[in-house]
Amino acid sequence: MDLGTKPGRRKDFFNVSYAANHLIMKKILITGGAGFIGSHVVRLFVKKYPNHKIFNLDKLTYAGNLENLKDIEKYNNYRFIKGDVVDESFIFDLFLKEKFDTVIHLAAESHVDRSISMPTEFVYSNILGTVNLLNASRAVWQNDFTGKLFYHISTDEVFGSLGKDGYFTETTPYDPRSPYSASKASSDHFVRAYHNTYLMPVVISNCSNNYGPNQFPEKLIPLCINNIINKKPLPVYGKGKNIRDWLYVEDHAKAIDIISLMGKPGETYNVGGLNEWKNIDLIRLLCHIMDRKLERPAGDSASLITFVKDRAGHDKRYAIDASKIQKELGWKPEHKFEEGLEKTVDWYISNQQWLRNVTSGDYLKYYEQQYEKR
Ligand code: NAD
Ligand code: DAU
Repeated sequence: MDLGTKPGRRKDFFNVSYAANHLIMKKILITGGAGFIGSHVVRLFVKKYPNHKIFNLDKLTYAGNLENLKDIEKYNNYRFIKGDVVDESFIFDLFLKEKFDTVIHLAAESHVDRSISMPTEFVYSNILGTVNLLNASRAVWQNDFTGKLFYHISTDEVFGSLGKDGYFTETTPYDPRSPYSASKASSDHFVRAYHNTYLMPVVISNCSNNYGPNQFPEKLIPLCINNIINKKPLPVYGKGKNIRDWLYVEDHAKAIDIISLMGKPGETYNVGGLNEWKNIDLIRLLCHIMDRKLERPAGDSASLITFVKDRAGHDKRYAIDASKIQKELGWKPEHKFEEGLEKTVDWYISNQQWLRNVTSGDYLKYYEQQYEKR
């Protein structure tokens, strides 16, 4: 396919006003929409934009679960497409057929521990997958970028690891230290290169650790909740002194909505909760909440804490300076951490079947039942 070599007419995304953004029918592609963050983004967009068509493209890896979207799967403005962003010809055919206006790209391998044991998967999905989407967008938009946007969802891990002080800002140099963060940094570089070289309207946001309902129980918070419910050990890497900045997933989804509407092409926005926790302190707080919710004696859950071998190359501290998105786009987190954590615990306790399905693998049958036998 000829992608052309001349940079085309640059029309600012802002030519389409905020009000018109709601009224003109747009085709919005969200990749990775069956995953943790993606499912919250899909739900927000489907409900908020009845005039737009929301497409959810997902390969349904172990982390993709259509049960996350049961409540909105029958909406007229929603369509699920099963597919792999690494499959170039499939992606080109899809883009030529649907001619999306906006691409919000979340599909990725997302777990650091998995990237340490199988780095190549991360190169395919996270780097090659992103380049395929960029090429397909370019081929379809044909250098007329009016009302078009390619939005890449990235991570704060591209900035590396902080010492005791300081924060990641949008100008912090990239210093990825795990195969996962190296793959995300690489895909960010490609997205920026397409803006610089072809004038494609792109935005990137780099977010801190998310938590909330529907997160696969390989990540710290849902893993601990699941293990406490089942009275299994809570594995704390090293001494539990590493620090993460936690943000409730619905606050991230709202930031993604605002950035997709008002983010300036070529810009990057850091998104974070201004909410740093040492892992061991967070786990102790979680144990305290779980004892109360499960009506177990105080200290019952904390007795499960087990210090284990540290993660290889474990980044010490992440902390986001989110002042740019606050000042320029008016976003700030709505959930206080203790409130968000209570909501999260309540969700997992009331959705233990969801937890059993994802840990047993039964959720993989959902796609078959809902989509393949139609
Ligand atoms: P997740 O692992 O829960 O979901 C990823 C989704 O992508 C899954 O539904 C999976 O099936 C899909 N997917 C994976 N490879 C694919 C491929 N080749 N083709 C099509 N679909 C594919 O991840 P998440 O935690 O929801 O993260 C979503 C995005 O946000 C990722 O890009 C991640 O890097 C980024 N991010 C995550 C966090 C966090 O704390 N979870 C923080 C900042 C940024
Ligand atoms: O910062 C954003 C990133 O946050 C996202 O880009 C990633 O997709 C997401 O997975 C997350 O990465 P982390 O490595 O920070 O998340 P995880 O939940 O795996 O680990 C959080 C911290 O808890 C980290 O310091 C490692 C530690 N940990 C994790 C697990 C799974 C443990 O001590 N024990 C565990 O069992």
